[in-house]
Amino acid sequence: MYKAAVLTVSDRSFQGLRPDGSGPLVASLLEGAGYEVVETAVVPDHQPDIEAALIRLCGPVRAALVVTTGGTGFSPRDVTPEATLAVCGRMVPGIPEAMRAASLAVTPRAMLSRGTAGLRGGTLIVNLPGSPKAARENLEAVLSALEHGLDMLLGGPGDCAAESPD
Ligand code: MTE
Repeated sequence: MYKAAVLTVSDRSFQGLRPDGSGPLVASLLEGAGYEVVETAVVPDHQPDIEAALIRLCGPVRAALVVTTGGTGFSPRDVTPEATLAVCGRMVPGIPEAMRAASLAVTPRAMLSRGTAGLRGGTLIVNLPGSPKAARENLEAVLSALEHGLDMLLGGPGDCAAESPD
């Protein structure tokens, strides 16, 4: 069972002005997929705070998977992708490509999420949009494939040909 952490990025939720609907939803989807959610946290849309939280969740907390929600749009305060890029050594473009491809079947506004995904050491970081609906739709598009990626990253069974269900 891989450890996962959920990071909600929202000024309003951080200030207590709006309940965090997406963080608990993402945590329950991850638990349903077999992850042990070891931490959920809320930070404001401030790049240094987002980076510090990501570094802590990858480092001392040792989550194999960190899923962020929020801060992927066009508002000047939306900087979650920039924070993710700053802390990752390698990017994983196929994950946001798959999320946007699936989401475009739901709404053309899917193209407005700048969410990304990348690897920091032994952790995969995935950005989701902020609304509960968008977070669910994006995560459900990729969730089933993530475990095999973590197996490759962390030295588990990594035989793609033998394991591919398709
Ligand atoms: N993706 C899906 N699947 N469903 C949605 O409703 N909303 C879009 C997009 N991605 C949406 C979606 C909208 S309206 C925006 S502005 C962007 O995600 C960015 O959202 P964020 O700023 O909350 O991160």
